[in-house]
Amino acid sequence: MARPAGRLETAAAPALLAALPALALLAALPVLLCGCGGPSSPAPTPAPPQCVPPTPAPTTDARTKVETITTVLVGSGGCDGQDAACKDNKTLEAMVVSLGVDGEGALVSQQRCWTVPGLPAWLAVRGPAGGARGCLFAVYPDTSSIGIFQLELDSLNGGTTAKMVSSVATKGVNPVFGDVALEGKYLVVADYHGPDDVKSSDGAGVESFAISADCGLKFVDFREHSGGSGKVPDRQAGAHPHSAVAWGPDLVFVCDLGADKIFSYRVEANGSLSVLSSVDTAAGFGPRHSVPHPTKPMLFVVGEMGCEVLTYNIDETTGTLTLASSVSTKPNTDPPSYGSKAAEVVISPDGLHVYASNRAFSPGFRHTVAVFRLMDGGVLEPIQQMDCPSFPRGMAMTPDGKALLVASQTDGSVVSYQVDPETGLLGEVISTQEGPLGAAAFAVLPELPAAPSELSV
Ligand SMILES: *[C@@H]1O[C@H](CO)[C@@H](O)[C@H](O)[C@H]1NC(C)=O
Ligand SMILES: *[C@@H]1O[C@H](CO)[C@@H](O)[C@H](O)[C@H]1NC(C)=O
Repeated sequence: MARPAGRLETAAAPALLAALPALALLAALPVLLCGCGGPSSPAPTPAPPQCVPPTPAPTTDARTKVETITTVLVGSGGCDGQDAACKDNKTLEAMVVSLGVDGEGALVSQQRCWTVPGLPAWLAVRGPAGGARGCLFAVYPDTSSIGIFQLELDSLNGGTTAKMVSSVATKGVNPVFGDVALEGKYLVVADYHGPDDVKSSDGAGVESFAISADCGLKFVDFREHSGGSGKVPDRQAGAHPHSAVAWGPDLVFVCDLGADKIFSYRVEANGSLSVLSSVDTAAGFGPRHSVPHPTKPMLFVVGEMGCEVLTYNIDETTGTLTLASSVSTKPNTDPPSYGSKAAEVVISPDGLHVYASNRAFSPGFRHTVAVFRLMDGGVLEPIQQMDCPSFPRGMAMTPDGKALLVASQTDGSVVSYQVDPETGLLGEVISTQEGPLGAAAFAVLPELPAAPSELSV
């Protein structure tokens, strides 16, 4: 595939570090050569590693100009171990790619990407508020660290973009998910601690960081998780926290795929984490991700091996979860055996429809997005199975609810589906663009105020 050079954002930090001895030598050269010790000219900056943005897909749009309204960044999880068709290439995976989405859900390439020091398997956004900047945090499981980006106005494409600043190490091992809690004050992170079949849980847990006004992260607390359910031995030998989702003023719900448990945590005012309670799922369910209802005290949890969405009612004061309902994510044409893994769960902005994705890894199973209508009592009524590109690990809905974005982890393609505003049903594919190879995570960037906030200080 041709990947012509375009406008680039680059990761200078690792190259600078690697080049430090060389820089020191260069700085010393004038002294060594002439012995004069006068003011030396600045050392030449070494060429940083550069990502090459994927080739823009030809537009099938009849409009001459696609108006970009929202920037969506796409991260990569590398190849799934059970995806034989996916071919790893670190250069094309350790990359965040910027796409634009217009008001009708059409995707455009923004010819912008970032080479990052790890697999950007999850992306979390803090919007700008009260004088604090907007931030993006990229979670790198393979290097157990979090990338820090500041949001800024995009002079190239218009709208919002991000500037890579630095990264920090996590306390736990293999972070896979992060969310912003307590009105943007803290980042909570789930540390998965792989591989899936490891018996020890050392480094599996949940941690918190304080977020500064300029997006810096300072470690606050780490709560270890221990013990897998062992029901699916090659997935659940140890604890595997897979997500940490903030809700309400101070609650965080943590799905532990290895332990078959969902934990309710409180983020204290000082950022420390307290376990309030936990609920057990069915053995072998593998709770993976969750999404709260936009207005009601309700949480939807997707089980990776169980291939179901569970609806829980949330007790707003104690954080206790009570199971209300469950429904299968799989198409009824799938065999009844374990040959598909559910991945993502998202809800429409009006709270009326829920979407869950299925990654087929055995013959006879289908890669689909399951669509549900939310009924009384938290019951999810299945209304559609939409076939989709292979290994749909990541999904996101546009803020206006008009399009559902689905990422194929196999080949890095990103498709946008039309969403019927009344029925929630998925319609035709609006457009397709390339994300990073192994595309798996989305961040929808907020609009920024037109004047840079630092000018008003
Ligand atoms: C990975 O992709 C880059 C960019 O397309 C290419 O130059 C390189 O040869 C690839 N590496 C492997 C091992 O295929
Ligand atoms: C943070 O707050 C909690 C709850 O009030 C308290 O138990 C804990 O000791 C505090 N931690 C620190 C480091 O102050």
